Amino acid sequence: MALDEFLAELDELKREAVAAFGAAGDDDALEAARVQFLGAKSGRLKAVQKGLGSVDKADKPTAGKRFNAAKGQIEAAFQAALERLAKRAGPAAGARQFDPTVPGILPRLGHVHPITQTIEEVKDILGRLGFTVAEGPEVEDHWHNFEALNIPADHPARDPLDNFYLATAEKTEPLAASQSTEKQWLLRSQTSTVQIRVMEKTKPPVRIISLGRVYRPDTADATHYPMFHQVEGLLVDRHVTMADLKSVLRLFGMSYFQGDTHIRFRPSFFPFTEPSVEIDMSWTGGWVEMGGAGMVDPNVLKAVGYDPEEVTGFAFGLGIERMCARRHGIDDIREFFRNDVRFLHQF
Ligand code: DAH
Repeated sequence: MALDEFLAELDELKREAVAAFGAAGDDDALEAARVQFLGAKSGRLKAVQKGLGSVDKADKPTAGKRFNAAKGQIEAAFQAALERLAKRAGPAAGARQFDPTVPGILPRLGHVHPITQTIEEVKDILGRLGFTVAEGPEVEDHWHNFEALNIPADHPARDPLDNFYLATAEKTEPLAASQSTEKQWLLRSQTSTVQIRVMEKTKPPVRIISLGRVYRPDTADATHYPMFHQVEGLLVDRHVTMADLKSVLRLFGMSYFQGDTHIRFRPSFFPFTEPSVEIDMSWTGGWVEMGGAGMVDPNVLKAVGYDPEEVTGFAFGLGIERMCARRHGIDDIREFFRNDVRFLHQF
């Protein structure tokens, strides 16, 4: 084949290909043009390339160079058309590429905090035993946190080092044992405060629980935290006994731990109960201390205007963190408050 002839053919092909790519109005048209001109098996560029073989030997270098240049231009025209269509089509092109069969990415769901879960469960279990939920403030006065609970002015439980006293407009001095305590406020150190608030407003019988935060200036370690949660229980009626207390706690333990839970009382002292006990529960493995309890002290009943000759009652206070940690085998209560989602995610 003469060089002129080959070059004419090549130029014609280039002209047509560039025009076709430039004119392609959508992906289908562009693809058809690509197959026609650049197709690997029967594309027209391939056909022209075959013609190269029959060009006179002396002209081959020129022909080859021109062929490569034309090929580059044709491919560039195709690329340009591709980009032009992708840009123009915008979202529609994106939509075409959307594959509805690809599994989606699941949104990560939040969880109810394990402590909140425990609180809800305790309310549920004791609710079935007839206890209704009562609430009290976290900022308390002396009367409800100490005095009405039979905790005398010189009792170590009132120590400023063991309580978060609040500086108030009326009085910012730390508490001295003999000072008038009326205007002293503190973050409640126990939920027993709610017993008083309920009895002040209600005539017996009462059967309540109160769950919430309490505060003590403890250094945080595996079993202490300056803020934690308690559940307080109070039942006052005629002829209430220690046996009732033990039954309620055992039923509660069996329900919460979902197994054969046993209760053990160890003699103890709390100013607001007489007699007082520490409560141990055994579920699987050894005994674990869960809180305190006892028969409501007659002084407490008198403080709220009840007649201790008429009614008796029991009260208990259990640690929510301890309960939750025991059930789930957690050995450091600080985990509850680190809020590491990898920890929280497990509940
Ligand atoms: N308030 C006690 C504490 O925080 C726990 C407690 C003990 C609550 C005996 C009670 C009780 O109601 O009767 O350590």
